[in-house]
Amino acid sequence: MRPELNRRTFVGASFAVTGAVAAGPLLTGCESHENTDSSNTARLRLHVNGQPADVTVDTRTSLLDMLREDLGLTGTKKGCDQGACGACTVLVDGTRINSCLTLAAMHDGAEIRTIEGLADGDRLHPLQQAFIDTDAFQCGYCTSGQIMSGVGCIAEGHTGSDAEIREWMSGNICRCGAYTNIVAAVSKAAKRA
Ligand code: FES
Ligand code: FES
Repeated sequence: MRPELNRRTFVGASFAVTGAVAAGPLLTGCESHENTDSSNTARLRLHVNGQPADVTVDTRTSLLDMLREDLGLTGTKKGCDQGACGACTVLVDGTRINSCLTLAAMHDGAEIRTIEGLADGDRLHPLQQAFIDTDAFQCGYCTSGQIMSGVGCIAEGHTGSDAEIREWMSGNICRCGAYTNIVAAVSKAAKRA
């Protein structure tokens, strides 16, 4: 004799079936996510501020986050995290870049220079000293990026005039509006280089 199928047993049976169907892909997704995590790491050998640095990072980690979170170099600032402000500027193999816009895993073997690596012991880099001499900052949040960009700008030879410095430093935003003094600092350091 066919067992009685009342509303309660029908609904319970339906949940059991649909629950199993729904859980299938979710569990598969979890498994594949774990696999993705474990296979998405990269071991990097870098040179940061003249020192070797071995670091294992998630391949989705930006260079900025690796410097700040993995190496503790918090002098490099995160402003917009989308390439618009220049606060995160560092030198990679001598070229200034926005470290928020590039993945750490793309720079295995690179020579990276951050604001922490500019001074020679107690002796400030000429551009750091020029920023102090010309009062080229207020809150200071943009300053490490401005200085790293200025070092790149001077090395590139884009310091022939204040207008040229403004043009080649235009990727670095200062919300305090210290631009006049920043240009003066770069110009002053360029003359000493
Ligand atoms: Fe990288 Fe703004 S934090 S450009
Ligand atoms: Fe404040 Fe530049 S000194 S943002």
